[in-house]
Amino acid sequence: MPPSDVLVRYGGNLPRYTSYPTAAQFDATVGAAEAEAWLRAVPAGTPISLYLHVPFCDVLCLFCGCNTSVVRDSGLRAAYGLLLIDELQRVAARLGPDRPVRHVQWGGGTPTTLPPATMRAVMETLHRLFRVEAGAEIAIELDPRFLPEDYPPLLGELGFNRASLGVQDLDPVVQAASGRVQSLEQTEDCVRRMRSAGISSINVDLIYGLPYQTTDGAGDTALTVADTLRPDRLAVFGYAHVPWKQKRQALLPQGALPPPAERLAQRARIDAALRLAGYRAIGLDHYARPGDALCRAAEAGTLHRNFQGYTVDPAPVLIGIGASAISSFPQGMTQNVPAQAFYARAMETMPDSLPAVRGVCRTADDRLRGEVIERLMCDLKVDPAAVGARHGAPASWYDGAWPALRQAQADGLVVLDGTVIRVTEEGRPFLRNIAAVFDAHHAPAGVKRHAGAL
Ligand SMILES: C[S@@+](CC[C@H](N)C(=O)[O-])C[C@H]1O[C@@H](n2cnc3c(N)ncnc32)[C@H](O)[C@@H]1O
Repeated sequence: MPPSDVLVRYGGNLPRYTSYPTAAQFDATVGAAEAEAWLRAVPAGTPISLYLHVPFCDVLCLFCGCNTSVVRDSGLRAAYGLLLIDELQRVAARLGPDRPVRHVQWGGGTPTTLPPATMRAVMETLHRLFRVEAGAEIAIELDPRFLPEDYPPLLGELGFNRASLGVQDLDPVVQAASGRVQSLEQTEDCVRRMRSAGISSINVDLIYGLPYQTTDGAGDTALTVADTLRPDRLAVFGYAHVPWKQKRQALLPQGALPPPAERLAQRARIDAALRLAGYRAIGLDHYARPGDALCRAAEAGTLHRNFQGYTVDPAPVLIGIGASAISSFPQGMTQNVPAQAFYARAMETMPDSLPAVRGVCRTADDRLRGEVIERLMCDLKVDPAAVGARHGAPASWYDGAWPALRQAQADGLVVLDGTVIRVTEEGRPFLRNIAAVFDAHHAPAGVKRHAGAL
């Protein structure tokens, strides 16, 4: 366990660096006009990836940091699906015909809250408007407690091949305090139904740092999940406490939230359990079996990081469809209207426009820093001087980073070998802190935009 002065030094609030610049830099100076121009500028033949966001759940988990709400009326859910179809049509019209697609990801929220006929209609539209390549990854997030009986066969028929299931923690005390009561049997049943429908790649999400969570309990959860569900991949997130953004988190018993040292111990126990079960650690918070495409990409230095986390997807353009969805282009990023009702209104009142309302342009400096940050987050190794040279920057471009890098070396988090930075295993939990050294937009201490780093 790192000494307490290390925990204090690296304990600030930091982004997860799923992009650079991060969403904290988005503002209203970038919006529909940029989305329009950037879509039209994607060269013909360039493959794109699609993300479809469904902001509905069957119940709200108190810990959840996502943009989601409970909508019981299936008519409203179906109406939202029509908006997704409409937005897909607007995007396709600007990209031109026959655009290849290699990754389709449905997230939320809980996308299976869409009525089955609506899911079918959206996927049929997507296949009609885009050329989804053979072997493309088509993935979806599921809540194992609320998977309608007819959904797994439907997903199999529509070509889905990966599913991510939220599990978080198996301890009933933690589950009750977090507002997410889910038995192991429910999760096992969900995995079995998905596998029998031909959706063979299963991811599981775990969280540490939840109220009343203990190191032993977190380790037991990881062991049980690895042994019984045998997922291909796991994401192990540190609970992000952002009650100033997500009011529902204020309902958690704040006094029962584990402090940073305890969170690190939970993370370490989960890490040990998963490695023992045969998984390899990937980047900040992912695990996969040796031979899995994610492992192979990590070993080859071709792993990427985007708004969905770690991915093997190298597509330079990711287009987000739906309320709050973010699109990423070489020129910058745009985000759709966040609230579902306002997204619907924007789609209805501006039929000739895209529903993007915020975003950021990428400067040459952002591109350079973004590459260094992405390589650090993916490879745990980077040579900022070599990356700088490729971007036409002098070796002095990161002179200001050296004091923090030397401190990180003294703390055992990195090894500096000439201009190469290697993150140690002890440094892996602190990856965001190391990446932040290269973040020119990082907010001054005390400004709360992100969750605590540890
Ligand atoms: C977008 S959510 C969708 C979950 C899915 N609808 C379900 O119910 O299982 C994906 C994952 O984000 C993670 N997550 C959500 N809120 C979080 C928070 N505040 N801190 C850390 N991870 C969080 C959870 O692990 C969750 O499974």
